[in-house]
Amino acid sequence: MLNQIDTILNEAKAELAGVNSLDGLEDLRLKYLGKRGAITNVLKMLGTVSAEERPAMGQKCNELKESITVIIEDKKEILKKAEINRKIEAEKVDVTFPGKKTRMGSKHPLTIVSEEVAQAFLGLGFSVVDGPEVETDYYNFEALNIPLNHPARDMWDSFYIKEGVLLRTHTSPVQMRVMEKSKPPLRVISYGKCYRRDAVDATHSWMFNQLEGFMVDEGVTFSDLKGVLNLFAQKLFGEERKTKFLPGYFPFTEPSAEVYIDCFKCEGKGCDFCKGSGWIEILGCGMVHPKVLQNAGYDPEKYTGFAFGMGMERIAMLKYGIGDIRLFFENDKRFLEQF
Ligand code: DAH
Repeated sequence: MLNQIDTILNEAKAELAGVNSLDGLEDLRLKYLGKRGAITNVLKMLGTVSAEERPAMGQKCNELKESITVIIEDKKEILKKAEINRKIEAEKVDVTFPGKKTRMGSKHPLTIVSEEVAQAFLGLGFSVVDGPEVETDYYNFEALNIPLNHPARDMWDSFYIKEGVLLRTHTSPVQMRVMEKSKPPLRVISYGKCYRRDAVDATHSWMFNQLEGFMVDEGVTFSDLKGVLNLFAQKLFGEERKTKFLPGYFPFTEPSAEVYIDCFKCEGKGCDFCKGSGWIEILGCGMVHPKVLQNAGYDPEKYTGFAFGMGMERIAMLKYGIGDIRLFFENDKRFLEQF
């Protein structure tokens, strides 16, 4: 039996020296110390030993158990450390490695122009308000003096969400939303996305941005409108800019006008840019229609106002010499990086 104990110890030592994983170590632990392990078997043999020899043999068995336990514990420590080191090695961060470049974005040209236009009007005492992009038929048309079945609706081919609800075709509905909620004097601008059922080409898009402005108070006249828009044109396109107001038609203004600036490329002489006319159209405007004031609950005998609306893409295209509206929405970095 003594021989057997020695053999077990030697075998265990050899096997444990060769093990190099925690799983393998656990297998060996079960093999030697487990319920059905080698040591249990030896202990069982104690019964066959004579009574005199038994205490000495018992002690030997305990020593064997002790030795193997110690070897296993030591080995466990070593393997655990090795495991940790392997992990550290595998997950090592090389702090000297060149970092990944974070690329800075820049403002979209439409944002730059919208902010510049807004700034020009803020300087004139206007404030900026927001309006919903999903609008009701009432605010988009009715309230602006465009009743159901009025041919003027053809000017704004619309995307309907359901009966009476559509994607706004212009920013003019903000006029009514503001007038209903506040009292004159009002000086407001509002800009954002608008939608029309237009086929896409170099100058049309089913989604585009508009800026709306209006002023309502006692005694507001067409001269005020001209003064404000002159200042705006000069601020955005150069001090020396001249404006021209030609009669136009919008159902929500009376009289209505289309505003032109003299071509800043050829100083009005006529060039390719202004198609030889010397003038460039920049926006539509007019005096707020008495019906619209009435719809807001205002007395048109007491209050008057002007309003104007412009396409931001058009303003940006003029300002930066951009030839195609689609460039604004294609997210091509080669285009966007230029601003
Ligand atoms: N809402 C008009 C459009 O989309 C633009 C416009 C014209 C706005 C004249 C106005 C205005 O406020 O007075 O074509």
